[in-house]
Amino acid sequence: MPDMPATTGERRPPKGFKAAIRRAVARKFFKYLVSKTKNFSHTTWLGRPIWQNLFDIQTIQETIVDLQPALIIECGTNLGGSSMYYAHLFDLLAAENRLQSGRGRIVTIDIEKMHDLSHPRITYLIGSSTAPEIFAQVKAMADAAAASGPILVILDSDHSMKHVRAELELYAPLVTPGSFCLVQDGVIDVLPNFAGGRPGPLPAIHDYLKTHPEFEIDRERCERYLITHHPDGWLRRK
Ligand SMILES: C[S@@+](CC[C@H](N)C(=O)[O-])C[C@H]1O[C@@H](n2cnc3c(N)ncnc32)[C@H](O)[C@@H]1O
Repeated sequence: MPDMPATTGERRPPKGFKAAIRRAVARKFFKYLVSKTKNFSHTTWLGRPIWQNLFDIQTIQETIVDLQPALIIECGTNLGGSSMYYAHLFDLLAAENRLQSGRGRIVTIDIEKMHDLSHPRITYLIGSSTAPEIFAQVKAMADAAAASGPILVILDSDHSMKHVRAELELYAPLVTPGSFCLVQDGVIDVLPNFAGGRPGPLPAIHDYLKTHPEFEIDRERCERYLITHHPDGWLRRK
Protein backbone atom coordinates (compact mmCIF):
# COMPACT_ATOMS: atom_id res chain seq x y z
CA MET A 1 0.00 0.00 0.00
CA PRO A 2 1.47 3.43 -0.95
CA ASP A 3 2.29 5.91 1.82
CA MET A 4 -0.19 8.78 2.26
CA PRO A 5 1.18 12.03 0.80
CA ALA A 6 2.05 14.61 3.46
CA THR A 7 -0.49 17.45 3.60
CA THR A 8 0.64 21.08 3.70
CA GLY A 9 1.92 22.01 7.10
CA GLU A 10 1.99 18.39 8.32
CA ARG A 11 5.00 17.62 10.46
CA ARG A 12 6.84 14.67 8.91
CA PRO A 13 7.99 11.95 11.29
CA PRO A 14 11.76 11.95 11.82
CA LYS A 15 13.81 9.76 9.50
CA GLY A 16 13.75 6.13 10.53
CA PHE A 17 10.68 6.66 12.73
CA LYS A 18 8.40 4.41 10.67
CA ALA A 19 10.99 1.64 10.56
CA ALA A 20 11.41 1.88 14.34
CA ILE A 21 7.62 1.64 14.82
CA ARG A 22 7.44 -1.37 12.51
CA ARG A 23 10.25 -3.09 14.40
CA ALA A 24 8.54 -2.39 17.74
CA VAL A 25 5.22 -3.82 16.47
CA ALA A 26 6.97 -6.92 15.08
CA ARG A 27 8.77 -7.44 18.39
CA LYS A 28 5.54 -7.14 20.37
CA PHE A 29 3.82 -9.62 18.05
CA PHE A 30 6.81 -11.98 18.32
CA LYS A 31 6.79 -11.91 22.12
CA TYR A 32 3.06 -12.70 22.10
CA LEU A 33 3.48 -15.44 19.47
CA VAL A 34 6.22 -17.12 21.53
CA SER A 35 4.11 -17.11 24.68
CA LYS A 36 0.89 -18.11 22.83
CA THR A 37 2.57 -21.12 21.16
CA LYS A 38 4.64 -21.97 24.27
CA ASN A 39 7.66 -21.30 22.09
CA PHE A 40 6.34 -23.53 19.27
CA SER A 41 6.65 -26.56 21.53
CA HIS A 42 3.36 -28.07 20.27
CA THR A 43 4.04 -27.58 16.56
CA THR A 44 3.82 -30.71 14.41
CA TRP A 45 4.93 -31.86 10.97
CA LEU A 46 2.70 -34.62 9.54
CA GLY A 47 1.50 -35.32 13.04
CA ARG A 48 4.94 -35.47 14.66
CA PRO A 49 6.44 -32.86 16.97
CA ILE A 50 8.85 -30.41 15.33
CA TRP A 51 10.27 -27.74 17.60
CA GLN A 52 10.67 -24.91 15.12
CA ASN A 53 9.33 -21.43 14.51
CA LEU A 54 7.05 -21.72 11.45
CA PHE A 55 8.61 -18.71 9.74
CA ASP A 56 12.06 -20.22 10.14
CA ILE A 57 11.19 -23.67 8.79
CA GLN A 58 9.86 -21.95 5.70
CA THR A 59 13.24 -20.24 5.21
CA ILE A 60 14.95 -23.60 5.78
CA GLN A 61 12.65 -25.24 3.21
CA GLU A 62 13.47 -22.59 0.63
CA THR A 63 17.17 -22.97 1.33
CA ILE A 64 17.08 -26.76 1.05
CA VAL A 65 15.25 -26.59 -2.29
CA ASP A 66 17.66 -23.96 -3.66
CA LEU A 67 20.78 -25.63 -2.36
CA GLN A 68 19.89 -29.34 -2.67
CA PRO A 69 22.48 -30.40 -0.06
CA ALA A 70 24.21 -33.75 -0.39
CA LEU A 71 24.23 -33.86 3.41
CA ILE A 72 22.47 -31.98 6.20
CA ILE A 73 24.19 -32.23 9.58
CA GLU A 74 21.81 -31.47 12.42
CA CYS A 75 22.93 -31.16 16.05
CA GLY A 76 19.81 -31.64 18.23
CA THR A 77 17.37 -34.34 17.08
CA ASN A 78 14.90 -34.12 19.98
CA LEU A 79 11.66 -35.89 18.93
CA GLY A 80 12.91 -36.21 15.36
CA GLY A 81 10.45 -33.89 13.62
CA SER A 82 12.95 -31.53 12.02
CA SER A 83 15.16 -34.24 10.51
CA MET A 84 12.01 -36.00 9.23
CA TYR A 85 10.85 -32.71 7.71
CA TYR A 86 14.18 -32.34 5.86
CA ALA A 87 13.97 -35.99 4.67
CA HIS A 88 10.42 -35.46 3.40
CA LEU A 89 11.48 -32.36 1.48
CA PHE A 90 14.12 -34.46 -0.27
CA ASP A 91 11.50 -37.17 -0.94
CA LEU A 92 9.17 -34.59 -2.52
CA LEU A 93 11.95 -33.24 -4.73
CA ALA A 94 12.86 -36.80 -5.75
CA ALA A 95 9.21 -37.62 -6.53
CA GLU A 96 9.21 -34.71 -8.98
CA ASN A 97 12.56 -35.80 -10.45
CA ARG A 98 14.09 -32.56 -9.20
CA LEU A 99 16.59 -33.99 -6.73
CA GLN A 100 20.08 -34.10 -8.16
CA SER A 101 21.90 -37.41 -8.01
CA GLY A 102 23.86 -38.03 -4.81
CA ARG A 103 21.92 -35.42 -2.81
CA GLY A 104 19.60 -35.70 0.14
CA ARG A 105 21.04 -37.37 3.22
CA ILE A 106 20.77 -36.26 6.85
CA VAL A 107 22.77 -37.06 9.96
CA THR A 108 21.24 -35.94 13.24
CA ILE A 109 22.76 -36.09 16.70
CA ASP A 110 21.34 -36.04 20.22
CA ILE A 111 22.55 -37.01 23.68
CA GLU A 112 19.31 -38.95 24.14
CA LYS A 113 17.03 -41.03 21.89
CA MET A 114 13.52 -39.66 22.31
CA HIS A 115 11.67 -41.15 19.33
CA ASP A 116 11.17 -44.38 17.41
CA LEU A 117 11.40 -42.86 13.95
CA SER A 118 13.41 -44.09 11.03
CA HIS A 119 13.85 -42.99 7.44
CA PRO A 120 16.24 -44.29 4.77
CA ARG A 121 17.77 -40.83 4.29
CA ILE A 122 18.47 -40.25 8.02
CA THR A 123 21.33 -41.48 10.20
CA TYR A 124 20.66 -41.04 13.92
CA LEU A 125 23.68 -40.71 16.22
CA ILE A 126 23.45 -40.77 20.00
CA GLY A 127 26.04 -38.82 22.01
CA SER A 128 27.19 -35.27 22.51
CA SER A 129 27.73 -33.30 19.30
CA THR A 130 31.12 -32.24 20.62
CA ALA A 131 32.28 -35.76 21.62
CA PRO A 132 35.30 -36.80 19.50
CA GLU A 133 33.77 -40.19 18.56
CA ILE A 134 30.54 -38.54 17.36
CA PHE A 135 32.34 -35.84 15.43
CA ALA A 136 34.61 -38.43 13.78
CA GLN A 137 31.55 -40.23 12.38
CA VAL A 138 30.01 -37.02 11.09
CA LYS A 139 33.30 -35.88 9.56
CA ALA A 140 33.62 -39.20 7.69
CA MET A 141 30.10 -38.74 6.30
CA ALA A 142 30.86 -35.14 5.32
CA ASP A 143 34.11 -36.13 3.59
CA ALA A 144 32.24 -38.78 1.60
CA ALA A 145 29.37 -36.42 0.69
CA ALA A 146 31.39 -33.32 -0.25
CA ALA A 147 32.08 -34.58 -3.79
CA SER A 148 28.34 -35.02 -4.43
CA GLY A 149 27.09 -31.57 -3.40
CA PRO A 150 26.76 -28.93 -0.68
CA ILE A 151 26.90 -29.63 3.04
CA LEU A 152 24.49 -27.71 5.25
CA VAL A 153 24.99 -27.59 9.03
CA ILE A 154 22.16 -26.81 11.47
CA LEU A 155 23.09 -26.27 15.13
CA ASP A 156 20.06 -26.84 17.36
CA SER A 157 21.33 -28.69 20.44
CA ASP A 158 22.56 -27.18 23.72
CA HIS A 159 22.11 -23.44 23.14
CA SER A 160 24.60 -22.23 25.77
CA MET A 161 27.25 -19.89 24.38
CA LYS A 162 30.05 -22.26 25.35
CA HIS A 163 28.54 -25.28 23.61
CA VAL A 164 27.52 -23.39 20.47
CA ARG A 165 31.01 -21.86 20.22
CA ALA A 166 32.53 -25.37 20.48
CA GLU A 167 30.10 -26.72 17.84
CA LEU A 168 30.95 -23.85 15.50
CA GLU A 169 34.64 -24.65 15.78
CA LEU A 170 33.98 -28.30 14.91
CA TYR A 171 31.14 -28.19 12.41
CA ALA A 172 31.41 -24.88 10.51
CA PRO A 173 34.54 -26.08 8.66
CA LEU A 174 32.43 -28.93 7.21
CA VAL A 175 30.22 -26.40 5.38
CA THR A 176 31.04 -26.25 1.69
CA PRO A 177 31.59 -22.85 -0.01
CA GLY A 178 28.28 -21.18 -0.88
CA SER A 179 26.42 -23.24 1.73
CA PHE A 180 25.44 -22.35 5.30
CA CYS A 181 25.86 -23.03 8.97
CA LEU A 182 22.50 -22.17 10.53
CA VAL A 183 23.00 -21.38 14.22
CA GLN A 184 19.57 -21.68 15.75
CA ASP A 185 17.95 -19.87 18.65
CA GLY A 186 19.98 -16.69 19.05
CA VAL A 187 16.54 -15.39 20.06
CA ILE A 188 17.56 -16.44 23.59
CA ASP A 189 19.88 -13.43 23.70
CA VAL A 190 17.26 -11.03 22.35
CA LEU A 191 13.74 -11.69 23.67
CA PRO A 192 13.05 -11.15 27.38
CA ASN A 193 11.08 -14.46 27.43
CA PHE A 194 14.43 -16.36 27.33
CA ALA A 195 16.64 -14.21 29.54
CA GLY A 196 17.29 -17.17 31.89
CA GLY A 197 19.23 -19.06 29.20
CA ARG A 198 21.88 -16.42 28.51
CA PRO A 199 24.56 -16.15 27.27
CA GLY A 200 23.29 -18.14 24.30
CA PRO A 201 24.11 -18.58 20.61
CA LEU A 202 24.33 -14.92 19.56
CA PRO A 203 27.60 -14.03 21.35
CA ALA A 204 29.00 -17.39 20.19
CA ILE A 205 28.24 -16.42 16.57
CA HIS A 206 29.79 -12.99 16.90
CA ASP A 207 32.88 -14.36 18.62
CA TYR A 208 33.31 -17.02 15.92
CA LEU A 209 33.02 -14.49 13.11
CA LYS A 210 35.85 -12.38 14.58
CA THR A 211 38.38 -15.01 13.55
CA HIS A 212 36.55 -16.63 10.63
CA PRO A 213 36.25 -14.16 7.77
CA GLU A 214 35.39 -17.06 5.44
CA PHE A 215 31.85 -16.76 6.86
CA GLU A 216 29.41 -13.85 6.56
CA ILE A 217 25.90 -13.33 7.92
CA ASP A 218 23.25 -13.77 5.21
CA ARG A 219 20.96 -10.93 6.29
CA GLU A 220 18.34 -11.64 3.62
CA ARG A 221 17.78 -15.12 5.07
CA CYS A 222 17.90 -13.91 8.69
CA GLU A 223 15.34 -11.16 8.09
CA ARG A 224 13.22 -12.82 5.40
CA TYR A 225 10.00 -13.10 7.42
CA LEU A 226 10.57 -10.20 9.82
CA ILE A 227 10.57 -12.33 12.96
CA THR A 228 13.02 -15.15 13.53
CA HIS A 229 14.41 -17.40 16.24
CA HIS A 230 17.79 -17.18 14.53
CA PRO A 231 18.98 -13.55 14.47
CA ASP A 232 22.39 -13.41 12.71
CA GLY A 233 22.07 -17.20 12.53
CA TRP A 234 22.47 -17.85 8.79
CA LEU A 235 26.24 -17.98 8.28
CA ARG A 236 27.17 -18.30 4.62
CA ARG A 237 30.53 -19.70 3.69
CA LYS A 238 32.05 -17.44 1.04
C1 LIG B 1 15.77 -27.64 20.65
S1 LIG B 1 15.90 -29.36 20.75
C2 LIG B 1 16.06 -29.83 19.05
C3 LIG B 1 14.78 -29.65 18.29
C4 LIG B 1 14.73 -30.36 16.96
N1 LIG B 1 15.82 -29.96 16.10
C5 LIG B 1 13.42 -30.02 16.30
O1 LIG B 1 13.37 -29.05 15.53
O2 LIG B 1 12.42 -30.71 16.55
C6 LIG B 1 17.49 -29.55 21.42
C7 LIG B 1 17.97 -30.98 21.56
O3 LIG B 1 19.39 -30.93 21.77
C8 LIG B 1 19.74 -32.02 22.58
N2 LIG B 1 21.08 -31.78 23.16
C9 LIG B 1 21.40 -31.10 24.30
N3 LIG B 1 22.72 -31.12 24.49
C10 LIG B 1 23.26 -31.78 23.44
C11 LIG B 1 24.59 -32.12 23.07
N4 LIG B 1 25.64 -31.80 23.82
N5 LIG B 1 24.77 -32.80 21.91
C12 LIG B 1 23.70 -33.16 21.13
N6 LIG B 1 22.44 -32.88 21.44
C13 LIG B 1 22.21 -32.20 22.59
C14 LIG B 1 18.62 -32.11 23.60
O4 LIG B 1 18.59 -33.41 24.15
C15 LIG B 1 17.40 -31.74 22.75
O5 LIG B 1 16.74 -32.89 22.31
